[in-house]
Amino acid sequence: MVKKVTKAVIPAAGLGTRFLPETKALPKEMLPIVDTPTIQFIVEEAKQSGIKDIVIVIGKGKRSIEDHFDSNPELEMNLEQKQKNDILETIRKTNDMNIYFIRQSHPRGLGDAVYTARSFIGNEPFVVMLGDDVMQDKVPLTKQLMDSYHKTGASTLAVKKVPHKDISKYGVIDPSEEVVPGLYNVKKFVEKPSPEKAPSDLAIIGRYLLTPEIFGILEQTKPDKSGEIQLTSAIDALNQTQRVFAHEFKGERFDTGNKLSWLKTNIIFGLRHDEIADGLRDYIVDLADQIQKKAKK
Ligand code: UTP
Repeated sequence: MVKKVTKAVIPAAGLGTRFLPETKALPKEMLPIVDTPTIQFIVEEAKQSGIKDIVIVIGKGKRSIEDHFDSNPELEMNLEQKQKNDILETIRKTNDMNIYFIRQSHPRGLGDAVYTARSFIGNEPFVVMLGDDVMQDKVPLTKQLMDSYHKTGASTLAVKKVPHKDISKYGVIDPSEEVVPGLYNVKKFVEKPSPEKAPSDLAIIGRYLLTPEIFGILEQTKPDKSGEIQLTSAIDALNQTQRVFAHEFKGERFDTGNKLSWLKTNIIFGLRHDEIADGLRDYIVDLADQIQKKAKK
């Protein structure tokens, strides 16, 4: 019998250098998607997937993440008095989750961030959900991984086809056979290969379901040339001793960790937002018109 998955680790201690100067004092995981911090979407996905306990890995300059998930009795009382129940509901959405915080003293890479959560996780399978990667699908991606794990009992990573020219930004899988549609056995996991050397266009995206044996491997994993402990390398080593599957995600992925992608995400979510969709659509149509006219001149 496989153990139930009830815990998630959300690494959010990175430096966010691609988003400087904004990230000098403010975490990129708190950047809004319209009106909601990115990391709130991640915690909601965990809740919708049936996760009960979450540990968020934070570091310097990340205090606002703790404040965001703390209750705010004064604000809540004020909204109650004004009978602003809709807003009240939005700020209480994840109040019933158990959210804990640990610190990664130096941003030594994703593998190190996950390793800091070892005591919290203990000897259980768990999910890792990156704090800047938003996923949307009918069934939440984390739930898809949990369903797969409950059938196989094996670690399973989410992968998605990305344009070949972008492959060197990702961990990439070298798939062998497709066991069932969308679930691959993997020969090798490679961190950031060049487009010429990439074994496929299936990139590891921000959700991982891992067995606790990963911690013993992370403990032994040496930092790479840039001084970071890579989670992908540890997963490749795990795959030598137990099966690790890759699950192809067919839903939408929004990477909010770089400027252009964050802006695009805001436009898409804005066009789906009851309050601002019409105004934003009119503005975009008008703007496109002006750009076209300028180009013709
Ligand atoms: P990224 O590589 O996207 O984040 O890591 P980064 O290092 O903050 O960004 P850049 O490259 O400097 O712009 C994915 C997630 O893992 C966390 C990040 O906070 C992010 O949510 N992370 C990364 C850690 O928690 N610790 C680390 O040492 C590195």
